[in-house]
Amino acid sequence: MSDSTQTPAKEVASFSVTLKIMRTIPSDEPSAGYGAPTPEPTSRWDTFTLTMHGTDRVLDALHKVKWELDGTLTFRRSCAHGVCGSDAMRINGRNRLACKTLLKDLNLTKPITIEPIKGLPVLKDLVVNMDPFFDAYREVQPFLIAYGVEPTAERLQSVRERARFDDTTKCILCACCTTSCPVFWNDGQYFGPAAIVNAHRWIFDSRDDGAADRMEILNDREGVWRCRTTFNCTDACPRGIQVTKAISQVKRAILIRTH
Ligand code: SF4
Ligand code: SF4
Ligand code: FES
Repeated sequence: MSDSTQTPAKEVASFSVTLKIMRTIPSDEPSAGYGAPTPEPTSRWDTFTLTMHGTDRVLDALHKVKWELDGTLTFRRSCAHGVCGSDAMRINGRNRLACKTLLKDLNLTKPITIEPIKGLPVLKDLVVNMDPFFDAYREVQPFLIAYGVEPTAERLQSVRERARFDDTTKCILCACCTTSCPVFWNDGQYFGPAAIVNAHRWIFDSRDDGAADRMEILNDREGVWRCRTTFNCTDACPRGIQVTKAISQVKRAILIRTH
């Protein structure tokens, strides 16, 4: 039996949204042969106008384009809930996760521009080659390094010891920070803030014995000293991690260790 006292659900307002998406198409020309340069991809802006709703995110609008208007549009996404880090892109000139950006929070009187994140080679449309990013991540050895006899129970630590690196455990490896860093744009060899954040997570873990090795790796000319403390990375992080502060703490730890 229906409850006559129940109020009907409010209709969610709909509105018109224009997306201006940077499309990059890999060249289908064959390479001129071994050792010859790979043919350059071509890029262009495509514009789509859609009707969307108040609870929709930029990811929903991209899905609508792909499923209803142009199935060739290419982008990454997996969880759709801010956890996997795969849908980082430049939205209105700022690095964000498409699944965490509500359309209603953007200026809808103008087209919303959507581009791939900067500083990594574009493979197609919004998909970049993440290999350089993950190579830097792997180089800092982002896993527990423990010497000595293996314990028979958990490796315990106090609440205070755990709190020391709590912020940097939140990283989802989305690359929003590294690809908003002007040093990384100009020098793809720089480790970048995400790798340093993940080194921080282990350097300050009381259970880990690999801090000296990681600090040695980051005390390199492409390591922490390239950071110019411009805070772009902190502003870009969708997890609210104090990225620049973490980098400063690693710098200080290296200085204390070497002096
Ligand atoms: S604070 Fe350092 S790592 Fe972060 S964006 Fe600026 S230069 Fe790059
Ligand atoms: S520190 Fe933040 S912005 Fe950088 S990769 Fe991790 S979650 Fe993404
Ligand atoms: S799709 Fe996983 S974080 Fe956005």
